[in-house]
Amino acid sequence: MPLVNTTEMFQKAYEGGYAIGAFNVNNMEIIQGVVAAAKDEKAPLILQVSSGARKYASPIYLRKLVEAAVEESGLPIALHLDHGDTFELCKSAIDDGFTSVMIDASHHAFAENIKITSQVVAYAHARGVTVEAELGRLAGIEDDVNVTAENASYTDPAQVEEFVEKTGVDSLAIAIGTSHGAFKFKGDAALRFDILEEVENRLPKFPIVLHGASSVVPEYVDLINKYGGAMPGAKGVPEDMLRRAASMAVCKINIDSDLRLAFTAAVRRHFSENPAHFDPRQYLAPARNLIQECVKHKLVNVLGCNNKA
Ligand code: G3H
Ligand code: 13P
Ligand code: ZN
Repeated sequence: MPLVNTTEMFQKAYEGGYAIGAFNVNNMEIIQGVVAAAKDEKAPLILQVSSGARKYASPIYLRKLVEAAVEESGLPIALHLDHGDTFELCKSAIDDGFTSVMIDASHHAFAENIKITSQVVAYAHARGVTVEAELGRLAGIEDDVNVTAENASYTDPAQVEEFVEKTGVDSLAIAIGTSHGAFKFKGDAALRFDILEEVENRLPKFPIVLHGASSVVPEYVDLINKYGGAMPGAKGVPEDMLRRAASMAVCKINIDSDLRLAFTAAVRRHFSENPAHFDPRQYLAPARNLIQECVKHKLVNVLGCNNKA
């Protein structure tokens, strides 16, 4: 099976009351860990690449690694551009073989967001590529941009119908209180399910996306706090909230920070136990294994997309 776009996976996820995991990938070991978990659990998958990841690996390497994952796993996998901020970047990803792109023009005014998103949709749809856009602004760190809590804004449900109608976009990321990065929520976690509900009512059967949805896998909290560099007491999004969102209109849940924490924790633990090792395979294999375990946990316990491939 070749790379797929997100149309069919979102339709099934919406009807089935589960969500697809969209995992950020930066290198071979992360891709292999995520894909091994999806293979174990027979889960459809979105592998997403940020512009930073594309620059780091150079565009062709990640695409070739993802193509290898498709060939080796036989799973339905979409290759998605995460947070494309210009038409040119989205066009370049599409020309490069991505099957799905996000145009994130959420930092622009509403009319400008519509204009840029529509331009991307026209280019993408002519080539069978699906498009995600964003309304509202999440707090946290995205690439080089740090959105402070004061500059973050919840999605206004009154804008969503006009936005979707005018742009023709295939899915919409909304801001309901999740945030990017490893340190979410200073106090108790709270998500605005009332906004999600209103969006769901206004856009029947339309796939919604949650960014900033890392949750720290419970089994690995101690390990990650000890070796992952997380601040003691830092909180991800509680898993029960993500499960609730997945049972509603949320069809795509974005996870990056959890993978970074797991990868780093495994490498740090390896060196603390084996300070003399210097063969990269010795410390990257445990990182790949921990990614696999964490992703399996999410596919089954958070997203509910196991056995849906
Ligand atoms: O939302 C942002 C993702 O976590 C990607 O992060 O741009 O540092 O690769 P990055
Ligand atoms: P996290 O930082 O919560 O993993 O969010 C990742 C994300 O939204 C990527 O687009
Ligand atoms: Zn994001």
